[in-house]
This record gives sequence, structure tokens and C-alpha cells, in this order.
Amino acid sequence: KTPYVVSSKSYTAVAINAAAKTGEWIKSKVGSSLKMSTKYSEQDLVTEVDKGAEQMIRRLILTHFPDHAILGEEGVEPGPDASNLALQAVKDEEFLWIVDPVDGTTNFVHGFPFFSVSIALAHHGEIIVGVIYDPIRDELFVAEKGKGAYVHGNRMQVSQEEHLSDGLIAVGFPPDPSFALPANMAAVQALAPKVRNLRAGGSAALHLAYVAAGRLSGYTEIGLNPWDIAAGALLVQESGGMVTSTAGHPYDLSVRHVTASNGKLHHELITVLKEAKATGIAEDK
Ligand code: IPD
Ligand code: CA
Ligand code: CA
Ligand code: CA
Repeated sequence: KTPYVVSSKSYTAVAINAAAKTGEWIKSKVGSSLKMSTKYSEQDLVTEVDKGAEQMIRRLILTHFPDHAILGEEGVEPGPDASNLALQAVKDEEFLWIVDPVDGTTNFVHGFPFFSVSIALAHHGEIIVGVIYDPIRDELFVAEKGKGAYVHGNRMQVSQEEHLSDGLIAVGFPPDPSFALPANMAAVQALAPKVRNLRAGGSAALHLAYVAAGRLSGYTEIGLNPWDIAAGALLVQESGGMVTSTAGHPYDLSVRHVTASNGKLHHELITVLKEAKATGIAEDK
């Protein structure tokens, strides 16, 4: 392993620049007529803006770091195991950028103002930079490994709720009606009576950024992909929170069933999901 010695500053600057420029362009396309198609399921939408945004981000990264690898959502064939295979192919790269050009495409298409650009950089599989940009609110969330996480320059800290009964918890529904929907409905059913309330905003990346910012106590979703989680996971960790699989195992890039929280109510959150067999993981059933 090459030790990670280069200052992450330049990587972070490139990530911020790519997220901000692309986010502005995405925002300018809200409400315009869009070429749209479906991916793996009827619910899984993709637009010309998703594809164009990914191209922009790739170009901006490769201009500075031509030999770095990029795993971007729109570069991966749709399908239930496609992201695992795509990750396998690049996971040993020294520098790997993990890109979700538009997280919350359904919201974008409907003009529901909750979507984001998510860009992470991993060094030998360890995430060292995470940037999420919400172009509607002009909110920029930035984390560097070991250096904290910031929203527009202000240090973020997770919320303080100790128990689920005081917690505002986000959930989600990936566009996979066969596996993800039943699994996530089971999680909703288990959590609803135990929490203060549930939210489903429709952008995994922003849910994670909101856990980091202390606006949500926790977030759990079954059936995500690496680009939905990578940047947000570092934001949560660097804000003092916790990120694991839904079964409570440590987070790494291969985790697709994720639970993030302020740390304090993490155990309770995982316990409820496990007791209800609502982790989405076959061994727990
Ligand atoms: C989706 C969003 C959504 C989540 C889905 C993701 P996309 O990403 O994060 O909140 O429920 O699982 O696929 O496709 O809009 O980038
Ligand atoms: Ca998508
Ligand atoms: Ca996504
Ligand atoms: Ca996307």
C-alpha cells in the first residue's frame, strides 16, 4: 500500500468544484422538458440530465487526475447485481471516485426540490473525501477523513437524541419492486410505532448529509448502491455519527443495506430491524 501522504485539499477542491458546477447545471434543467427512459424497472427513471451530469463530473475529475478510476451510476449497466460486479472491477484501484450525478432522479423529474450531487474519493478502498451538493438550497456538505465535516464552512455535528422514541428517522424505497420494496416496507412497519416520526425524502445522499448535520437522528434503507452511500457515509462519520450495514456490521463500499445514525440510538435502531427480521439480509430471516 502506498501511504496516503498527498494533502487531500486538492482532491477536495476538485470534488467541490465538480459538485457545484454540475449542481448548478442540473438546477437550470428543473422544469424543462426532458428525454427520459426507464432502467431496470418501470419505476427506475433516468434522464438526459443524469447522463450529462455524469459526463461533466467525469471530465472535471479526469482533467486533474487522468489516471484515477471512476465508478459512476450512469456508467454501470442497470440490474440487481450490476453495482457489485462494477465495484469488484475497480475496488483495488489506488484512487477511486464514486459518483452519483443526480441522487433523487424521481424528485428531479417531478420538481420535488430534494436531490443532490454526490462525489466521494476512496484511497485503497478507504473513503477520504465526501462531497454532497444540494443545488436547490445551495448547501454544500464536505467531509475529509480525520478532519471533520462541514456545511458551508460550519462544522457539523450529529444530533443528541438517545432513544428512538425521540428520533426523526428517514427511510427510502429504491425502485426495485421485487426485493427492495417488501424489505423496506418491513423496516417501515417495524420502526413506525417506535420512533417520533419517519421521513422518506427520496435522496439517500441528502438523508445521510442530514444525519451528519443533526437534522435527522438516523436513516436506514435496504437495496442501495455504492454511489448512493459513499460520500454521505464519510459525512456522518466525520460528524460523530455511526454508519453500518442494517445488521450492524462496519460500513465498507460493498454495503448496500445501510443504517446511519447519531450513534446514540444506533443499537436500538439495529435491534428493532433485526427483531422484526427487517434488515433485508437473508441470514437474518
Ligand atoms: C435513489 C435515491 C432514492 C433511494 C433509491 C436510490 P437515484 O437514487 O437515493 O432516495 O431510495 O434507492 O436509487 O437513482 O435517484 O440516484
Ligand atoms: Ca438512478
Ligand atoms: Ca442514487
Ligand atoms: Ca443517480
